[in-house]
Amino acid sequence: MLTNKTIIVGVTGGIAAYKACELVSRLKKLNADVWVVMTAAATKLVGPITLRTLSGNPVVTDLFADELSTLPVPHIALAQKADIIIIAPCTANIIGKIANGIADDALTTIVMASPAQKLIAPAMNAEMWRNPAVKKNVSWLESRDFVFIGPEEGKLACGSEDIGVMSKPRAIVKEATRLLPGSKTASAADLTGKKVLITAGGTREAIDPVRFIGNRSSGKMGYALAEAARQRGAEVTLVSGSTHLAAPEGITVIKVEDAKSMHEAVIANRAGQHIIIMAAAVADYRPTITFWQKLKKESETIKLELSKTVDILADLGRLKNGTYLVGFAAETNDHVENAKAKMSEKNLDLIIVNDASAIEQDSSEIKIIDKHGNVDEHPEQAKHQSANKILDKILSQIT
Ligand SMILES: Cc1cc2nc3c(=O)[nH]c(=O)nc-3n(C[C@H](O)[C@H](O)[C@H](O)COP(=O)(O)O)c2cc1C
Repeated sequence: MLTNKTIIVGVTGGIAAYKACELVSRLKKLNADVWVVMTAAATKLVGPITLRTLSGNPVVTDLFADELSTLPVPHIALAQKADIIIIAPCTANIIGKIANGIADDALTTIVMASPAQKLIAPAMNAEMWRNPAVKKNVSWLESRDFVFIGPEEGKLACGSEDIGVMSKPRAIVKEATRLLPGSKTASAADLTGKKVLITAGGTREAIDPVRFIGNRSSGKMGYALAEAARQRGAEVTLVSGSTHLAAPEGITVIKVEDAKSMHEAVIANRAGQHIIIMAAAVADYRPTITFWQKLKKESETIKLELSKTVDILADLGRLKNGTYLVGFAAETNDHVENAKAKMSEKNLDLIIVNDASAIEQDSSEIKIIDKHGNVDEHPEQAKHQSANKILDKILSQIT
Protein backbone atom coordinates (compact mmCIF):
# COMPACT_ATOMS: atom_id res chain seq x y z
CA MET A 1 0.00 0.00 0.00
CA LEU A 2 1.08 3.55 -0.70
CA THR A 3 -1.02 5.28 1.99
CA ASN A 4 0.46 8.67 2.99
CA LYS A 5 2.64 8.77 -0.14
CA THR A 6 2.36 11.76 -2.45
CA ILE A 7 3.23 10.85 -6.00
CA ILE A 8 3.54 13.28 -8.89
CA VAL A 9 2.94 11.68 -12.26
CA GLY A 10 4.42 13.79 -15.06
CA VAL A 11 2.85 13.05 -18.43
CA THR A 12 4.59 14.29 -21.57
CA GLY A 13 3.82 14.40 -25.27
CA GLY A 14 4.46 10.81 -26.31
CA ILE A 15 1.98 8.53 -27.98
CA ALA A 16 2.09 6.38 -24.82
CA ALA A 17 0.46 9.21 -22.83
CA TYR A 18 -2.78 7.21 -22.67
CA LYS A 19 -0.91 4.58 -20.61
CA ALA A 20 -0.56 7.19 -17.86
CA CYS A 21 -4.27 6.56 -17.18
CA GLU A 22 -3.54 2.95 -16.15
CA LEU A 23 -0.51 4.08 -14.15
CA VAL A 24 -2.56 6.64 -12.20
CA SER A 25 -5.35 4.10 -11.59
CA ARG A 26 -2.89 1.54 -10.26
CA LEU A 27 -1.29 4.09 -7.91
CA LYS A 28 -4.73 5.17 -6.66
CA LYS A 29 -5.69 1.56 -5.99
CA LEU A 30 -2.65 1.41 -3.70
CA ASN A 31 -4.01 4.48 -1.85
CA ALA A 32 -1.38 6.96 -3.04
CA ASP A 33 -2.17 10.68 -3.22
CA VAL A 34 -1.57 11.23 -6.95
CA TRP A 35 -1.03 14.61 -8.65
CA VAL A 36 -0.76 14.69 -12.42
CA VAL A 37 1.34 17.33 -14.16
CA MET A 38 1.02 17.44 -17.95
CA THR A 39 3.02 19.18 -20.64
CA ALA A 40 1.12 21.09 -23.32
CA ALA A 41 1.97 18.35 -25.86
CA ALA A 42 0.60 15.67 -23.51
CA THR A 43 -2.77 17.43 -23.32
CA LYS A 44 -3.14 16.96 -27.08
CA LEU A 45 -2.76 13.18 -26.69
CA VAL A 46 -4.81 12.48 -23.55
CA GLY A 47 -7.43 14.58 -21.83
CA PRO A 48 -6.60 16.30 -18.52
CA ILE A 49 -10.17 15.67 -17.40
CA THR A 50 -9.61 11.91 -17.65
CA LEU A 51 -6.51 12.16 -15.47
CA ARG A 52 -8.20 14.55 -13.05
CA THR A 53 -11.03 12.03 -12.62
CA LEU A 54 -8.68 9.08 -12.19
CA SER A 55 -6.33 10.88 -9.78
CA GLY A 56 -9.04 12.69 -7.80
CA ASN A 57 -6.86 15.84 -7.79
CA PRO A 58 -6.61 18.90 -10.08
CA VAL A 59 -4.29 18.36 -13.04
CA VAL A 60 -1.47 20.88 -13.47
CA THR A 61 -0.97 21.93 -17.07
CA ASP A 62 0.14 25.52 -16.73
CA LEU A 63 2.42 27.16 -14.17
CA PHE A 64 0.41 30.37 -14.30
CA ALA A 65 -3.11 28.97 -14.21
CA ASP A 66 -4.90 28.83 -10.88
CA GLU A 67 -5.70 25.09 -10.86
CA LEU A 68 -4.03 24.87 -7.46
CA SER A 69 -5.00 28.31 -6.17
CA THR A 70 -5.54 27.03 -2.63
CA LEU A 71 -1.75 26.63 -2.26
CA PRO A 72 0.43 29.79 -1.81
CA VAL A 73 3.13 28.89 -4.40
CA PRO A 74 1.51 25.82 -5.90
CA HIS A 75 4.36 24.35 -7.93
CA ILE A 76 6.87 24.66 -5.08
CA ALA A 77 4.38 23.27 -2.55
CA LEU A 78 3.75 20.30 -4.80
CA ALA A 79 7.47 19.82 -5.51
CA GLN A 80 8.22 19.69 -1.80
CA LYS A 81 5.27 17.51 -0.89
CA ALA A 82 6.16 14.74 -3.35
CA ASP A 83 7.72 11.49 -2.16
CA ILE A 84 8.51 10.53 -5.75
CA ILE A 85 8.07 12.03 -9.21
CA ILE A 86 7.33 9.55 -11.96
CA ILE A 87 7.49 10.81 -15.54
CA ALA A 88 5.65 8.35 -17.75
CA PRO A 89 5.85 8.54 -20.66
CA CYS A 90 8.90 10.78 -20.80
CA THR A 91 9.76 12.34 -24.17
CA ALA A 92 13.26 12.91 -25.53
CA ASN A 93 12.49 16.60 -25.20
CA ILE A 94 11.76 16.48 -21.44
CA ILE A 95 14.82 14.29 -20.79
CA GLY A 96 16.87 16.94 -22.60
CA LYS A 97 15.31 19.84 -20.70
CA ILE A 98 15.80 18.28 -17.28
CA ALA A 99 19.39 17.25 -18.03
CA ASN A 100 20.19 20.78 -19.13
CA GLY A 101 18.56 22.70 -16.33
CA ILE A 102 15.65 24.08 -18.33
CA ALA A 103 12.47 24.85 -16.41
CA ASP A 104 10.10 26.45 -18.89
CA ASP A 105 6.88 24.61 -18.07
CA ALA A 106 5.09 23.29 -14.97
CA LEU A 107 6.63 19.79 -15.12
CA THR A 108 10.27 20.78 -15.59
CA THR A 109 9.93 23.54 -12.97
CA ILE A 110 8.51 21.10 -10.42
CA VAL A 111 11.21 18.53 -11.20
CA MET A 112 13.91 21.15 -10.71
CA ALA A 113 12.40 22.35 -7.43
CA SER A 114 11.86 18.92 -5.92
CA PRO A 115 14.27 16.93 -3.74
CA ALA A 116 12.17 13.78 -4.29
CA GLN A 117 13.40 10.65 -6.03
CA LYS A 118 12.70 10.78 -9.76
CA LEU A 119 11.69 7.77 -11.84
CA ILE A 120 11.72 8.22 -15.61
CA ALA A 121 9.94 5.91 -18.05
CA PRO A 122 11.09 7.03 -21.50
CA ALA A 123 9.10 6.19 -24.62
CA MET A 124 10.05 7.22 -28.11
CA ASN A 125 10.99 6.16 -31.58
CA ALA A 126 14.08 3.86 -31.57
CA GLU A 127 16.24 6.31 -33.52
CA MET A 128 15.38 9.04 -31.04
CA TRP A 129 16.40 6.75 -28.15
CA ARG A 130 19.70 5.95 -29.90
CA ASN A 131 20.38 9.60 -30.67
CA PRO A 132 23.72 10.57 -29.06
CA ALA A 133 22.19 13.70 -27.48
CA VAL A 134 19.48 11.60 -25.78
CA LYS A 135 22.05 9.01 -24.66
CA LYS A 136 24.26 11.73 -23.20
CA ASN A 137 21.33 13.29 -21.34
CA VAL A 138 20.17 9.92 -19.96
CA SER A 139 23.66 9.10 -18.83
CA TRP A 140 24.05 12.44 -17.08
CA LEU A 141 20.72 12.10 -15.31
CA GLU A 142 21.57 8.56 -14.19
CA SER A 143 24.77 9.86 -12.64
CA ARG A 144 22.58 12.30 -10.67
CA ASP A 145 20.39 9.56 -9.13
CA PHE A 146 17.53 9.76 -11.62
CA VAL A 147 16.30 6.19 -12.07
CA PHE A 148 15.26 5.02 -15.52
CA ILE A 149 12.90 2.17 -16.28
CA GLY A 150 12.76 0.99 -19.89
CA PRO A 151 12.23 1.65 -22.69
CA GLU A 152 11.47 -1.90 -23.74
CA GLU A 153 11.54 -3.59 -27.09
CA GLY A 154 8.21 -4.03 -28.86
CA LYS A 155 5.91 -2.70 -31.54
CA LEU A 156 6.39 1.05 -31.90
CA ALA A 157 3.78 3.56 -33.04
CA CYS A 158 5.76 3.99 -36.30
CA GLY A 159 5.16 0.29 -37.04
CA SER A 160 8.66 -1.12 -36.48
CA GLU A 161 9.62 -3.73 -33.89
CA ASP A 162 12.41 -2.06 -31.89
CA ILE A 163 13.41 -0.44 -28.62
CA GLY A 164 11.36 2.55 -27.43
CA VAL A 165 8.17 1.18 -25.87
CA MET A 166 7.25 2.54 -22.42
CA SER A 167 7.57 -0.03 -19.62
CA LYS A 168 4.28 -1.50 -18.46
CA PRO A 169 2.44 0.60 -15.82
CA ARG A 170 2.52 -2.43 -13.50
CA ALA A 171 6.37 -2.53 -13.74
CA ILE A 172 6.59 1.24 -13.17
CA VAL A 173 4.46 0.97 -10.02
CA LYS A 174 6.65 -1.88 -8.78
CA GLU A 175 9.82 0.14 -9.37
CA ALA A 176 8.32 3.27 -7.75
CA THR A 177 7.33 1.20 -4.72
CA ARG A 178 10.87 -0.17 -4.50
CA LEU A 179 12.31 3.35 -4.61
CA LEU A 180 9.95 5.01 -2.16
CA PRO A 181 11.60 5.72 1.18
CA GLY A 182 9.98 3.86 4.05
CA SER A 183 7.52 2.03 1.85
CA LYS A 184 6.43 -1.28 3.35
CA THR A 185 7.45 -3.13 0.21
CA ALA A 186 10.57 -1.08 -0.34
CA SER A 187 13.55 -3.12 -1.32
CA ALA A 188 15.62 -0.12 -2.35
CA ALA A 189 17.98 -1.00 0.47
CA ASP A 190 18.11 -4.69 -0.37
CA LEU A 191 21.93 -4.71 -0.30
CA THR A 192 22.16 -3.19 3.17
CA GLY A 193 24.81 -4.98 5.22
CA LYS A 194 26.54 -6.34 2.12
CA LYS A 195 30.10 -5.44 1.22
CA VAL A 196 30.65 -5.24 -2.51
CA LEU A 197 33.95 -4.79 -4.34
CA ILE A 198 33.75 -3.72 -7.96
CA THR A 199 36.49 -3.15 -10.51
CA ALA A 200 35.98 -0.75 -13.40
CA GLY A 201 37.76 0.96 -16.28
CA GLY A 202 40.72 -0.14 -18.31
CA THR A 203 44.29 -0.83 -17.28
CA ARG A 204 47.32 0.89 -18.79
CA GLU A 205 50.49 -1.14 -19.21
CA ALA A 206 53.48 1.15 -19.41
CA ILE A 207 55.88 1.00 -22.36
CA ASP A 208 57.89 3.99 -21.13
CA PRO A 209 57.11 7.01 -18.90
CA VAL A 210 54.71 8.52 -21.47
CA ARG A 211 53.35 5.58 -23.48
CA PHE A 212 51.20 2.64 -22.58
CA ILE A 213 49.13 -0.21 -23.97
CA GLY A 214 45.51 0.41 -23.04
CA ASN A 215 42.02 -0.45 -24.17
CA ARG A 216 38.78 1.34 -24.97
CA SER A 217 37.01 0.63 -21.68
CA SER A 218 35.22 3.74 -20.39
CA GLY A 219 34.41 2.38 -16.93
CA LYS A 220 30.68 3.14 -17.45
CA MET A 221 29.43 -0.36 -16.60
CA GLY A 222 31.56 -0.71 -13.45
CA TYR A 223 30.68 2.80 -12.25
CA ALA A 224 26.97 2.14 -12.90
CA LEU A 225 27.24 -1.04 -10.84
CA ALA A 226 29.00 0.80 -8.02
CA GLU A 227 26.41 3.57 -8.00
CA ALA A 228 23.47 1.13 -8.13
CA ALA A 229 24.92 -1.05 -5.35
CA ARG A 230 25.42 2.04 -3.16
CA GLN A 231 21.87 3.22 -3.86
CA ARG A 232 20.67 -0.21 -2.75
CA GLY A 233 22.49 0.09 0.57
CA ALA A 234 25.75 -1.78 -0.04
CA GLU A 235 29.13 -0.72 1.32
CA VAL A 236 31.00 -0.34 -1.95
CA THR A 237 34.72 -0.37 -2.73
CA LEU A 238 35.51 0.57 -6.31
CA VAL A 239 38.92 -0.35 -7.70
CA SER A 240 39.14 1.90 -10.72
CA GLY A 241 41.48 1.78 -13.68
CA SER A 242 41.53 4.56 -16.25
CA THR A 243 38.27 6.42 -16.87
CA HIS A 244 37.06 9.98 -17.34
CA LEU A 245 34.15 9.43 -14.95
CA ALA A 246 33.91 11.30 -11.67
CA ALA A 247 34.16 9.22 -8.51
CA PRO A 248 30.65 8.46 -7.20
CA GLU A 249 29.76 9.85 -3.77
CA GLY A 250 29.63 7.55 -0.75
CA ILE A 251 31.94 4.95 -2.26
CA THR A 252 35.55 4.09 -1.38
CA VAL A 253 37.51 4.53 -4.60
CA ILE A 254 40.99 3.05 -5.09
CA LYS A 255 42.67 4.32 -8.25
CA VAL A 256 45.04 1.95 -10.02
CA GLU A 257 47.04 2.09 -13.22
CA ASP A 258 47.93 -1.37 -14.50
CA ALA A 259 46.93 -5.02 -14.10
CA LYS A 260 49.54 -5.56 -11.39
CA SER A 261 48.31 -2.67 -9.21
CA MET A 262 44.69 -3.69 -9.80
CA HIS A 263 45.58 -7.22 -8.68
CA GLU A 264 47.27 -5.89 -5.55
CA ALA A 265 44.32 -3.64 -4.68
CA VAL A 266 41.73 -6.36 -5.23
CA ILE A 267 43.63 -9.01 -3.26
CA ALA A 268 44.33 -6.57 -0.41
CA ASN A 269 40.62 -5.64 -0.15
CA ARG A 270 38.94 -8.95 -0.91
CA ALA A 271 38.64 -10.22 2.69
CA GLY A 272 35.13 -9.75 4.09
CA GLN A 273 33.54 -8.89 0.73
CA HIS A 274 30.22 -10.65 0.14
CA ILE A 275 30.26 -9.93 -3.58
CA ILE A 276 33.10 -9.16 -6.00
CA ILE A 277 32.24 -7.96 -9.49
CA MET A 278 35.11 -7.73 -11.94
CA ALA A 279 33.82 -5.31 -14.57
CA ALA A 280 37.24 -3.82 -15.41
CA ALA A 281 38.90 -4.47 -18.76
CA VAL A 282 42.22 -5.79 -17.53
CA ALA A 283 45.03 -6.09 -20.09
CA ASP A 284 45.92 -9.70 -20.89
CA TYR A 285 49.46 -8.71 -21.91
CA ARG A 286 51.95 -6.07 -20.83
CA PRO A 287 55.31 -5.04 -22.29
CA THR A 288 57.93 -7.45 -20.92
CA ILE A 289 60.27 -4.51 -20.39
CA THR A 290 59.18 -1.05 -19.29
CA PHE A 291 61.68 1.60 -20.38
CA TRP A 292 62.41 4.10 -17.65
CA GLN A 293 63.30 6.80 -20.13
CA LYS A 294 61.17 7.92 -23.05
CA LEU A 295 61.95 5.87 -26.16
CA LYS A 296 63.58 8.00 -28.85
CA LYS A 297 62.29 7.96 -32.42
CA GLU A 298 65.42 6.51 -34.00
CA SER A 299 65.10 3.14 -35.74
CA GLU A 300 62.48 2.52 -38.46
CA THR A 301 60.84 -0.31 -36.52
CA ILE A 302 60.91 -1.44 -32.93
CA LYS A 303 59.83 -4.77 -31.50
CA LEU A 304 57.76 -4.86 -28.37
CA GLU A 305 57.72 -8.16 -26.52
CA LEU A 306 54.61 -8.79 -24.46
CA SER A 307 54.16 -11.06 -21.45
CA LYS A 308 50.96 -12.32 -19.88
CA THR A 309 49.62 -10.22 -17.02
CA VAL A 310 48.53 -11.67 -13.71
CA ASP A 311 45.06 -13.28 -13.94
CA ILE A 312 43.05 -11.47 -11.24
CA LEU A 313 39.82 -13.36 -11.85
CA ALA A 314 41.51 -16.77 -11.72
CA ASP A 315 43.23 -15.84 -8.44
CA LEU A 316 39.93 -14.67 -6.95
CA GLY A 317 38.28 -17.89 -8.12
CA ARG A 318 40.94 -19.91 -6.30
CA LEU A 319 40.76 -17.84 -3.10
CA LYS A 320 37.08 -16.98 -3.00
CA ASN A 321 36.07 -18.67 0.24
CA GLY A 322 32.33 -17.89 0.17
CA THR A 323 32.52 -14.63 -1.77
CA TYR A 324 30.04 -14.46 -4.66
CA LEU A 325 32.25 -13.88 -7.70
CA VAL A 326 31.03 -12.23 -10.89
CA GLY A 327 33.01 -11.86 -14.11
CA PHE A 328 32.41 -10.11 -17.42
CA ALA A 329 33.09 -11.35 -20.91
CA ALA A 330 33.22 -8.92 -23.82
CA GLU A 331 33.06 -11.14 -26.88
CA THR A 332 33.01 -10.59 -30.62
CA ASN A 333 31.79 -14.12 -31.48
CA ASP A 334 30.41 -17.32 -29.84
CA HIS A 335 29.42 -15.14 -26.90
CA VAL A 336 27.59 -17.63 -24.69
CA GLU A 337 29.91 -20.60 -25.30
CA ASN A 338 33.06 -18.56 -24.64
CA ALA A 339 31.53 -17.07 -21.51
CA LYS A 340 30.46 -20.45 -20.13
CA ALA A 341 34.00 -21.77 -20.66
CA LYS A 342 35.43 -18.71 -18.86
CA MET A 343 32.99 -19.17 -15.99
CA SER A 344 34.02 -22.76 -15.26
CA GLU A 345 37.74 -22.10 -15.88
CA LYS A 346 37.78 -19.23 -13.35
CA ASN A 347 35.35 -20.71 -10.82
CA LEU A 348 32.83 -17.85 -11.17
CA ASP A 349 29.29 -17.79 -9.79
CA LEU A 350 27.92 -15.55 -12.51
CA ILE A 351 29.15 -14.17 -15.81
CA ILE A 352 27.83 -11.21 -17.77
CA VAL A 353 28.30 -11.33 -21.51
CA ASN A 354 28.15 -8.36 -23.77
CA ASP A 355 29.26 -7.69 -27.27
CA ALA A 356 32.63 -5.97 -27.51
CA SER A 357 30.88 -3.24 -29.53
CA ALA A 358 29.16 -2.06 -26.29
CA ILE A 359 32.48 -0.81 -24.97
CA GLU A 360 32.44 3.00 -24.43
CA GLN A 361 28.67 3.08 -25.08
CA ASP A 362 26.05 4.33 -22.60
CA SER A 363 23.84 1.31 -23.17
CA SER A 364 24.39 -2.39 -23.70
CA GLU A 365 22.60 -5.62 -24.44
CA ILE A 366 23.62 -8.18 -21.84
CA LYS A 367 23.22 -11.86 -21.16
CA ILE A 368 23.53 -13.05 -17.56
CA ILE A 369 24.65 -16.65 -17.20
CA ASP A 370 24.53 -18.48 -13.89
CA LYS A 371 26.34 -21.61 -12.70
CA HIS A 372 23.45 -23.82 -13.75
CA GLY A 373 23.75 -22.62 -17.34
CA ASN A 374 20.58 -20.45 -17.23
CA VAL A 375 20.90 -17.52 -19.63
CA ASP A 376 18.85 -14.36 -18.93
CA GLU A 377 18.81 -12.11 -21.98
CA HIS A 378 18.29 -8.38 -21.53
CA PRO A 379 17.69 -6.14 -24.57
CA GLU A 380 19.71 -2.97 -25.08
CA GLN A 381 19.22 -0.64 -22.13
CA ALA A 382 21.12 2.04 -20.27
CA LYS A 383 24.05 0.65 -18.30
CA HIS A 384 22.48 1.83 -15.05
CA GLN A 385 19.50 -0.41 -15.78
CA SER A 386 21.74 -3.30 -16.77
CA ALA A 387 23.54 -2.78 -13.46
CA ASN A 388 20.31 -3.18 -11.50
CA LYS A 389 19.39 -6.30 -13.50
CA ILE A 390 22.77 -7.79 -12.59
CA LEU A 391 22.31 -6.89 -8.89
CA ASP A 392 18.77 -8.36 -8.94
CA LYS A 393 20.18 -11.62 -10.30
CA ILE A 394 23.00 -11.72 -7.74
CA LEU A 395 20.51 -11.12 -4.92
CA SER A 396 18.23 -13.86 -6.19
CA GLN A 397 21.19 -16.26 -6.00
CA ILE A 398 22.60 -15.32 -2.62
CA THR A 399 19.39 -14.92 -0.61
C1 LIG B 1 1.42 11.76 -32.39
C2 LIG B 1 2.75 12.11 -31.79
C3 LIG B 1 3.41 11.18 -31.02
C4 LIG B 1 4.65 11.48 -30.44
N1 LIG B 1 5.27 10.54 -29.69
C5 LIG B 1 6.45 10.84 -29.11
C6 LIG B 1 7.08 9.90 -28.29
O1 LIG B 1 6.59 8.76 -28.09
N2 LIG B 1 8.24 10.23 -27.69
C7 LIG B 1 8.82 11.46 -27.89
O2 LIG B 1 9.90 11.70 -27.32
N3 LIG B 1 8.24 12.39 -28.67
C8 LIG B 1 7.07 12.10 -29.28
N4 LIG B 1 6.46 13.04 -30.06
C9 LIG B 1 7.10 14.35 -30.23
C10 LIG B 1 6.82 15.23 -29.03
O3 LIG B 1 5.42 15.38 -28.84
C11 LIG B 1 7.47 16.58 -29.23
O4 LIG B 1 8.88 16.43 -29.19
C12 LIG B 1 7.03 17.59 -28.19
O5 LIG B 1 7.73 18.80 -28.37
C13 LIG B 1 7.24 17.07 -26.81
O6 LIG B 1 6.76 18.00 -25.86
P1 LIG B 1 6.93 17.70 -24.30
O7 LIG B 1 8.25 17.03 -24.15
O8 LIG B 1 6.90 19.07 -23.67
O9 LIG B 1 5.79 16.87 -23.89
C14 LIG B 1 5.23 12.75 -30.66
C15 LIG B 1 4.55 13.69 -31.44
C16 LIG B 1 3.34 13.38 -32.00
C17 LIG B 1 2.65 14.41 -32.84
